[in-house]
Amino acid sequence: MPHPPAITLRPFHEADTAFFTGKASDERVTRFIGDGQPWDEQTIQERIRAALQEDPLDSVGASRWFLAVEANEPVGIVVSSRKDAGVEVGYWVSPDHWGRGIAGAMPDAALASIPDIYLTRELFARVDPANAVSTKLLTRRGFQLDTHHEGLDHYILV
Ligand SMILES: CC(C)(COP(=O)(O)OP(=O)(O)OC[C@H]1O[C@@H](n2cnc3c(N)ncnc32)[C@H](O)[C@@H]1OP(=O)(O)O)[C@@H](O)C(=O)NCCC(=O)NCCS
Repeated sequence: MPHPPAITLRPFHEADTAFFTGKASDERVTRFIGDGQPWDEQTIQERIRAALQEDPLDSVGASRWFLAVEANEPVGIVVSSRKDAGVEVGYWVSPDHWGRGIAGAMPDAALASIPDIYLTRELFARVDPANAVSTKLLTRRGFQLDTHHEGLDHYILV
């Protein structure tokens, strides 16, 4: 990987719905998310609605999503949502772009902005222990394994 890809993160807009729907319907992307199955249409619409309605950032359940753009093309998405334990982050990259360092560039950009948006450094991610790429990504960026709950490893930013 000679150069890290030049990624810009910008807020998710309604016009990005088709991009998100494509990822959430792709079993390669959802393999380690939730029950591992592609999301149904109703779940997709509910999540998009929640992401777009911009609830106050201090209320549990508030979420903000960001589109990762490379040369004007959407290549991934970073999701964040306020939970009791802090702000949960997640990230998906278009399978066509896997292995190029995009996932690394996205959390770097997200970690630079999400703490300022939510006014907290208490970030965490939940990862399927079999998701070796994601585990490596988080530990390389200062996340540490904290707990294991309902089949998922919980990593916190330390
Ligand atoms: C996980 C995912 C985000 C990785 O995206 P990506 O752009 O292909 O990842 P990168 O190319 O940036 O590689 C990330 C790191 O994993 C390493 N890696 C790549 N393939 C690997 C493999 N098979 N095993 C172990 N490490 C691997 C890379 O070398 C890189 O390490 P580095 O940070 O030390 O350079 C992507 O596969 C994806 O969207 N999966 C579906 C959604 C998902 O599982 N999201 C995470 C939920 S917590």
